[in-house]
Amino acid sequence: MRIAVIGTGYVGLVVGTGLAENGHQVICVDRDEAIIASLQAGEMPIHEPGLEELVVRNVEEERLTFSTDLAAAVADALLVFVCVATPTREDGEVDETEVFAVAEGVAKAIPGYRIIVNKSTCAIGGTERIRDHIRSVTSHDFDVVSNPEFLKEGAAVDDFMRPDRIVVGCDDVRVTEIMKELYAPFLRTGKPFLQMSIRSAEMTKYATNAMLAARISLMNEMANLCAAYGADIALVRDAVAADSRIGHAYLFPGLGLGGSCLPKDVEAAAFMGREQGVPCPLLEATIQTSEQHLNRFIRGILAYFDDDLTDKRIAIWGVTFKPRTDDIRGAPSLRIIDALLNAGAEVHAFDPAGSLKLQQYYNDKVAVAPKAYAALEDADGLVICTEWREFHRPDYERMASLMRNKVIFDGRNLYTPKTMAELGFRYFSVGRPAV
Ligand SMILES: NC(=O)c1ccc[n+]([C@@H]2O[C@H](COP(=O)([O-])OP(=O)(O)OC[C@H]3O[C@@H](n4cnc5c(N)ncnc54)[C@H](O)[C@@H]3O)[C@@H](O)[C@H]2O)c1
Repeated sequence: MRIAVIGTGYVGLVVGTGLAENGHQVICVDRDEAIIASLQAGEMPIHEPGLEELVVRNVEEERLTFSTDLAAAVADALLVFVCVATPTREDGEVDETEVFAVAEGVAKAIPGYRIIVNKSTCAIGGTERIRDHIRSVTSHDFDVVSNPEFLKEGAAVDDFMRPDRIVVGCDDVRVTEIMKELYAPFLRTGKPFLQMSIRSAEMTKYATNAMLAARISLMNEMANLCAAYGADIALVRDAVAADSRIGHAYLFPGLGLGGSCLPKDVEAAAFMGREQGVPCPLLEATIQTSEQHLNRFIRGILAYFDDDLTDKRIAIWGVTFKPRTDDIRGAPSLRIIDALLNAGAEVHAFDPAGSLKLQQYYNDKVAVAPKAYAALEDADGLVICTEWREFHRPDYERMASLMRNKVIFDGRNLYTPKTMAELGFRYFSVGRPAV
């Protein structure tokens, strides 16, 4: 099939490449000329494990191309995937500006029947609004489908190639069959293809992210209770996760919700509840708990330094919102760094993949270290914000010899408190007694 993917970001590039890998002829479109130029030059605009190899192969085999020309791409494709960003506004309302700009462009460009597949997480009813908008512009026949995306950054290729399920919101039997045919190679392991109404598909995305976020917030609350009572959240988590009704996923305490999806989707769902007069106190609390939890962690750091970090040099390990990505959108590290800078600290940060984005975000307000240990030189403290593998078992003696003051604030519970105490560190983690 000929497919156009509009928006070549974390979702669009993976979706387009994954479809090309299955033999389809795919053109990925972005309005950002720098993104398209880098892809055309064989350079990856994002860090996503396993993606580069797939992009290179599919470009070489001439199944995958890149362009800024939406009209030409749409003219040539039966399926048009919409993968542009849908951030939330201050009050939680979804900002669908990018989606409607694409809808407008598509409507003006289609020369005949097309299927518009919406992967952008719009507010409920968004796919129908896209349909209404396109219908108001073109007289050509078309169909719309809601096909929410559940991939996780850091494991996006694997998630897209081997999904737990495919959700397709679509009212038309013929279009459903086309979507089923499209996704059949991805579901060979027997995972389900779930066809439903457009609004149910859209709601599935919100319900999924709300569930995941609620687990995180609940565990962060339990972690704080553990700390208050001298219990250890790591032991509690293992025992809770062993319950077959619960399982292990999304139970790690940490720094609260992060990234460009979970927090914004929960905020959007809570906003929709308020708009509809449907109380959603659990959604509201999921966000509030996350905020309070991160603030509590930040307060702990500031309190250790008596709220004055003038002339203090603080090292940060990990700035991305999770490991194996370069994405710093919604990362708790940014809030922590802001607080440190406001308190007068000099911040030296290291991240295996997110350094460039961090530098672009802070310019020269933050020093980006070339290596993990370089960030520790003369540091008055270390804050661990992301659980990259290389931080799990570092050379503690080297750390101790580099740091001016041996204190670690570990937002990811990477080390054993007893070991750190024996090594002479003051060690603060989440939901475990401080040593
Ligand atoms: N990032 C994730 O992990 C993830 C997972 C599931 C769902 N989603 C949802 O998928 C959607 C896309 O998210 P993302 O993280 O990939 O966003 P992103 O910001 O990484 O990428 C969006 C891309 O769209 C491009 N774009 C914007 N307007 C355009 C236009 N008019 N024409 C062409 N290109 C245009 C931008 O330049 C950008 O490169 C969002 O709705 C998000 O909520 C994201």
